[in-house]
Amino acid sequence: MRLGATALLLSLALQAQAQPAPATSGPLLPRDGAEAAQFRGSLVFFNYCMTCHGPNADGRGRAARLYNPPPADLRASDKNATYMRQIVRLGGKAMGRSEFMPPRGEELTDEQVTDVVAYLQSMSNARKP
Ligand code: HEC
Repeated sequence: MRLGATALLLSLALQAQAQPAPATSGPLLPRDGAEAAQFRGSLVFFNYCMTCHGPNADGRGRAARLYNPPPADLRASDKNATYMRQIVRLGGKAMGRSEFMPPRGEELTDEQVTDVVAYLQSMSNARKP
């Protein structure tokens, strides 16, 4: 049994070594268009938003329990892109919402804000007005 497992691991390791090296040319990621924007937006999201809003953007981040009201479930949000851009720039307090939704001001570029909103909209479950 144990020997079998060892042999299996060994053969897997040898197989892994035999794999060709990763491609060094050609696009690895989408470069343009909606997919590229969503991909870039996901990076913004994982850097700036995930701790509170959670990896699935459903409001269940690791820090969520610290806040009341809790971070919004962004997949169920009925807010449009303009509202989302505003709350990211200005923060919750300026929008009459929780002060714990932090203002990003000029910390993010226009492209980053547009991208993160595109990412959120791409996985929205909500019906928009
Ligand atoms: C420190 C925790 C925290 C971080 C980080 C955070 N948020 Fe929030 N966010 C909140 C909280 C709390 C609310 C709920 C505010 C309320 O209900 O008054 C909220 C609300 C929102 C809303 C309003 C949604 C709705 O349907 O009303 C949007 C959009 C939003 N956040 C987007 C983001 C984005 C995008 C980022 C990253 C750039 C981010 N948040 C980072 C805590 C956070």
